[in-house]
Amino acid sequence: MESVEMNALRDACASCVRCPLGQTRTNPVFGVGNPQAEILFVGEGPGEQEDLKGEPFVGKAGILLDKMLACIGMSREDNVYIANIVKCRPPHNRDPLPEERQACLPYLRAQTKLIRPKIIVCLGKVAATTLIDPSFSIMRSHGVWYERKGFWMIATFHPAALLRNEGLKRDAYGDLLKIRAKLDELTAKKEPPEESDGKAEEETEK
Ligand code: URA
Repeated sequence: MESVEMNALRDACASCVRCPLGQTRTNPVFGVGNPQAEILFVGEGPGEQEDLKGEPFVGKAGILLDKMLACIGMSREDNVYIANIVKCRPPHNRDPLPEERQACLPYLRAQTKLIRPKIIVCLGKVAATTLIDPSFSIMRSHGVWYERKGFWMIATFHPAALLRNEGLKRDAYGDLLKIRAKLDELTAKKEPPEESDGKAEEETEK
């Protein structure tokens, strides 16, 4: 369930006009998923379908994203949170402008603070250049881990890029496996040690 703080943030976003996109949107697209998720996926910004529905990744790219998540045993309902760099649709699906990204980032930062994910996955160039490094190259640096401010960050191909270029799917699958493995590694560290039946100690004392 969404916390009071997350709800308040959602409400603030609903009436936001910090940038001109606030005047042309149909609905802001705040985010979807488990607000206690260990993984936060960040896309670019809403497209036409998302703008109409108010939910991220509901068009063709969203169907593919759901399949990608399923590949590694995850789903938007259960164990991830999905948001975008900008909450409102840029006209004609153009890339969000630097000033639009900057105006919107406080929302994503506040969401991240509340969710406290272990891993942040940037879906595509806009997310990676905004969150990891302004000169980030997806072709060169997808699948590479960065540790930033206590988060593990990685970028992979945007699902829309995978729809345009099927040849990238193999690399994207490799990235997904890395993400699954990192999550397993990080969550395994948290598990208490298995209860011993005393036999191991007995063996070493012999
Ligand atoms: N592309 C994105 O980057 N985000 C969405 O929510 C939908 C499509």
